[in-house]
Amino acid sequence: MKKEIPVDMAYRLINHGCVLLVTAAHRDRTNVMTLAWQTPLSVRPPLVGICVAMPHLTHELIAASEEFALNVPGAGLLAAVRVCGRLSGREHDKFKEAGLTPVAGKKVRAPLIAECLAHIECGVVALHKAGDHTFFVGEVLAASAEEELFSDHWAERPEAATIHHLGGDWYYFSGPREGRQDGD
Ligand SMILES: Cc1cc2nc3c(=O)[nH]c(=O)nc-3n(C[C@H](O)[C@H](O)[C@H](O)COP(=O)(O)O)c2cc1C
Repeated sequence: MKKEIPVDMAYRLINHGCVLLVTAAHRDRTNVMTLAWQTPLSVRPPLVGICVAMPHLTHELIAASEEFALNVPGAGLLAAVRVCGRLSGREHDKFKEAGLTPVAGKKVRAPLIAECLAHIECGVVALHKAGDHTFFVGEVLAASAEEELFSDHWAERPEAATIHHLGGDWYYFSGPREGRQDGD
């Protein structure tokens, strides 16, 4: 069961730089892609940024629809992360091949992935060419997360472990937490 997260707190879902599954849809085409190059950008208004290589189908769909959704996979979805980061939606139905279930979002046509821990729905408000990638700036329109696993930060529970990319086919999972309740 997922609860709504205030849009100005959505950045905390990805503050720790986790790997994401980005979804996009335009007309009759829908796709999902693995993405490591992401960042929170602003709290008010709530903005996040993602870097997408120009040849990717996901790039085409985001540029055309001006929307995308970020889905936070837990460590148990590493196999799906690999599939969605290796195959292109131009030749594959990655939802099927990775065993992911698309469900309707609240604000954007890009589907959310039911198996993921959290979701951030975004409308594109700016884009910048960055070499062979485009940096899309998204305004957060809605966000949600597993209610048991996210309060104002991710809980220290194995089910809340997120995936972090070291490059190549190397990953680690988020581990022990340290902090104070009143910390940033
Ligand atoms: C762990 C991982 C992280 C990745 N991060 C990015 C990224 O930040 N930006 C990007 O454009 N591609 C990234 N990729 C590559 C795309 O996911 C991959 O090329 C994908 O097949 C593109 O799919 P599409 O053509 O269906 O959009 C990553 C791949 C992996 C495995």
